[in-house]
Amino acid sequence: MNVTLRQLKVFAAVARHLSFTKAAEELCLTQPAVSMQVKQLEHQLDVSLFEQLGKKIYLTDAGEEVYHYSRQITQQLDELEMVLANLKGLERGRLKISVASTANYFAPTLLGTFCNRFPGITVSLDVTNRETLLRQLADNDVDLVIMGQPPADMDLEAGAFMENPLVIVAPREHPLVGEKAIPLKRLEKETFLVRESGSGTRNAMERFFAQHDIHITTGMEVGSNEAIKQSVQAGLGLGLLSRDTVEMELALGRLSILEVAEFPILRHWYVVHRRGKRLSVVAQAFKKFLLEEGAELLGKPSAVIALDAVRAQKKGAV
Ligand code: PGA
Repeated sequence: MNVTLRQLKVFAAVARHLSFTKAAEELCLTQPAVSMQVKQLEHQLDVSLFEQLGKKIYLTDAGEEVYHYSRQITQQLDELEMVLANLKGLERGRLKISVASTANYFAPTLLGTFCNRFPGITVSLDVTNRETLLRQLADNDVDLVIMGQPPADMDLEAGAFMENPLVIVAPREHPLVGEKAIPLKRLEKETFLVRESGSGTRNAMERFFAQHDIHITTGMEVGSNEAIKQSVQAGLGLGLLSRDTVEMELALGRLSILEVAEFPILRHWYVVHRRGKRLSVVAQAFKKFLLEEGAELLGKPSAVIALDAVRAQKKGAV
């Protein structure tokens, strides 16, 4: 069999996106170059890997099998690279990390400090929403993930390193700005802009209102924290966002936090990987760095302090 690693890599990208165009974008190739690699692979294996129905492409049964094995081959190669890099310690090596879109407000700062400390390390950073992070963990596609509350039904190892309070933001001129202890019920008169489904912030928001039996009106669905902030400023509704995302707008007086009873919703940021995953020396070092120094470097309360605050709040002391 004369299959090349390059053919498998290009095929895997098409299979992952189910799109030749998106695979070409990811690999910085032209679409004809991608098609050519896939055709050559089909020729080598003497099977069809994709079928087209309407405008969409699907994997054939043979395509599913080749995708399964191509992922295993890639993971084995990654592991080999890791084992060889581990021999060099922290002088060289690669860190593949994915963070929730909301965590992108602080993750680059932490990566910057880490990379300055270990300049030989190359980082690949992917920013995506919670749903995609969970898929990447399930597929073993990343070393580490930074996300909100990890799901209980996946076999993961997670360490909380910093608090993540969710707040309600309004435009500066909103009538509720400046009011103290706004009752939760009062929110039923407002319209909320919501993140896309699959967002951790949105899940937390829906769970919180359901637990408190509050029936809010939702307006536009908006696909990013940035767009939510712009829409709130434009007066299209209120937003429920991680406080980490609005620091600049608060400082510039463009948005205000509403002082609603039961708020902020106290969540935490976690560094997560699959249980039993063989972490590279670099990934181990970055995990330790996040857990021991992450919150302090950003000038935020660490998860331990945050958990104490939650306990105190439950007792009614805060
Ligand atoms: P999100 O994730 O950016 O997908 O909303 C943040 C979180 O899990 O809290």
